[in-house]
Amino acid sequence: MSHFEPKPERYDLMKYNRCGNSGLMLPALSLGLWHNFGKIDDFKNARKIVCKAFDHGVTHFDLANNYGPPPGSAEKTFGKILKKDLKSYRDEIIVSSKAGYTMWPGPYGDWGSKKYLVSSLDQSLKRMRLDYVDIFYHHRPDPNTPLEETMGALDLIVRQGKALYVGISNYNPEQTAAASKMLKSMGTPFIIHQARYSMFDRTVEGGLLDVVEKEEIGCIAFSPLAQGLLTNKYLGGIPEGSRAASHRGNGAIEEDQISGEKIEKVRQLNEIAEGRGQSLAQMALAWVLHDKRITSVILGVSKSKQLMDSLECLNGPEFSKKELKAIQGILG
Ligand SMILES: NC(=O)c1ccc[n+]([C@@H]2O[C@H](COP(=O)([O-])OP(=O)(O)OC[C@H]3O[C@@H](n4cnc5c(N)ncnc54)[C@H](OP(=O)(O)O)[C@@H]3O)[C@@H](O)[C@H]2O)c1
Repeated sequence: MSHFEPKPERYDLMKYNRCGNSGLMLPALSLGLWHNFGKIDDFKNARKIVCKAFDHGVTHFDLANNYGPPPGSAEKTFGKILKKDLKSYRDEIIVSSKAGYTMWPGPYGDWGSKKYLVSSLDQSLKRMRLDYVDIFYHHRPDPNTPLEETMGALDLIVRQGKALYVGISNYNPEQTAAASKMLKSMGTPFIIHQARYSMFDRTVEGGLLDVVEKEEIGCIAFSPLAQGLLTNKYLGGIPEGSRAASHRGNGAIEEDQISGEKIEKVRQLNEIAEGRGQSLAQMALAWVLHDKRITSVILGVSKSKQLMDSLECLNGPEFSKKELKAIQGILG
């Protein structure tokens, strides 16, 4: 790829949703860089995916300090792509990063202390060659640090001008309500919760979505395809090059999570998707977005072909009551 020139019509190709009651609009489909953007991955492929996404109206790129491998390298890759291709588009892009998982040795490189969060974001900014991120998240709740300290760190980061908005991820409904109360009392722009949500993991329906609605914050869904399980890729076994075949640890899907019972459900869901004229990936993404409390879903892709397939989910038919009932019946 030589010089990158995005399509002028890119914003007509995407739907943008307001994030809670904030001024920020996010694309219905965002791009996540957890896998496939590390130092061990092919830079050309990474660059192609990011540029293709931007070219199709995907304005939001989701990172974290620990994405790689090795940790930190996805931010470096993204920084390189920003510099090469997207430098003049910084004001058209929403970049998020996070801290909360193990990042460096010793007592200050993990969890939720002010020391960790502030230093980690400084490191992330250097890796991405940015002055600020648009959204900074606390990546997971820390049972041993007072919530006041972690939320105070998020507030400080905004006041330092290093993030415009803040969010939390993997917090349960009670923790979310408490965090929201604290951040609101400090006047911190807390606008978003990042939570796992897919046909195969519906935990958020048990209270979290009610809390985000009540608190008027957005919700962005991660692993909407259950890491690839909600596609047709595992119907005939585990293909070479797939995430399940590459065993990368850090919570990545492994062979034993791809059980006969799950695959049977995938097969049945795939039939419904075919009946709708969609790929299963498209139907699974549309299903998550079908709940109006979901601001955006974060796509993870290993190839630009997958990105193009997934983006088409916005152009599929609405779900009929019959389809939703049949899906519910399969999911149980
Ligand atoms: N906050 C958190 O704690 C947290 C945790 C996890 C993820 N996240 C965020 O969410 C993002 C997405 O998570 P995820 O990667 O697990 O998402 P996912 O959409 O559930 O899974 C992505 C995988 O599905 C497969 N795939 C995607 N589109 C496809 C298509 N159209 N057809 C066939 N296969 C397709 C690819 O698998 P192959 O690689 O096998 O080709 C891809 O790597 C991450 O990058 C990260 O930004 C956040």
